[in-house]
Amino acid sequence: MSDSSVRIAGWGKYLPQRVVDNHELERMVDTSDDWIRARSGIVERRIAAPEETTCSMAVRAARPALDMAGVEAGELDLIIVATGTPDHPGFPATGSLVQEALGATRAGAFDVGAGCGAFGYGLVIGAQFILTGAQRNVLVVGSDAMSRVIDWRDRTTCVLFGDAAGAVVLRATDRPGGLLSFVLGSDGCGAPKLYVPAGGSKQPASHESVEARAHFLKMDGRDVFRFATRVIPGSILEALDRAGLTTADLDLVIPHQANIRIIEHARKKLELPPERVFTNVDKYGNTSSASIPVALCEALEQGRIVEGDIVAMCAFGAGLCWASAIWKWN
Ligand code: COA
Repeated sequence: MSDSSVRIAGWGKYLPQRVVDNHELERMVDTSDDWIRARSGIVERRIAAPEETTCSMAVRAARPALDMAGVEAGELDLIIVATGTPDHPGFPATGSLVQEALGATRAGAFDVGAGCGAFGYGLVIGAQFILTGAQRNVLVVGSDAMSRVIDWRDRTTCVLFGDAAGAVVLRATDRPGGLLSFVLGSDGCGAPKLYVPAGGSKQPASHESVEARAHFLKMDGRDVFRFATRVIPGSILEALDRAGLTTADLDLVIPHQANIRIIEHARKKLELPPERVFTNVDKYGNTSSASIPVALCEALEQGRIVEGDIVAMCAFGAGLCWASAIWKWN
């Protein structure tokens, strides 16, 4: 039998050591532990040390994923780094930095940018390289140093995000299952709802842009909330339909961890019991591209996914964009 499927053969995560709880934020901006918990479900988040970068966190998540998969770095065909906070703006790709740090001498490498939806896109892209038969071992990492693009004076955003990385190794396999279906979507009308105004080709860095704090993330929280509560159930139902499945078949949903209220809203819309939706937003906040791979790792560590399970992952974010995928755990 030929290796006609893809499987997630290894996984790893990295959370920076430094824990910043809501009380620490109370001393920085006009906010409260009660407000943050009630409006977002977040209790604490991790913040990268000054010497840590998106690349260094990605490497620390990738190594255990490679070990678990039994894949040497030199056997990797491709490295995809999903990130919105690359080490350098534009180029080189953080993927190339990760490739060098791992010693993945045979691998191609690139970044996927799709806001907090990037890992969802990266995972589907990586799987396609394997499903076409072109490649056998693909590393997909979601890594974001959100603390570097957050305005620590803006209480409406700084309380919501954290830093982390998560990685999976995709391998060709003859075990049936793997990626059953996916939905990728984008609504660029929503671009100004969540963006970093300056530092790109539209508004290059200048004294004025720095003074205007235009290199930090800006967000219309209410509109993004409405978008997220629509897109999670909508795209998961569409992906299920493409796989010939229904919500009754779902063993676990791993949604992007942005806000417990968004997740709860989606869970109720999908009519799923709490135990079938994974959450860890309380511990890490919104870690952007790292959110889904870190949640996947923790779900696996907790034994919440076993062979044969149907798992839905739904990433969404700036763009606005979304990426949902249905996997049969093989
Ligand atoms: N502490 C205390 N008060 C705060 C605050 C904070 N950190 N941030 C905002 N507020 C205030 C607002 O200024 C507002 O005050 P006002 O009524 O006097 O103007 C009030 O709290 C309510 O703000 P509102 O925006 O209506 O709150 P909300 O219930 O919509 O929650 C978010 C705000 C940001 C938590 C919520 O909209 C959200 O999660 N949106 C999605 C964000 C997201 O997930 N983005 C990433 C997607 S990948």
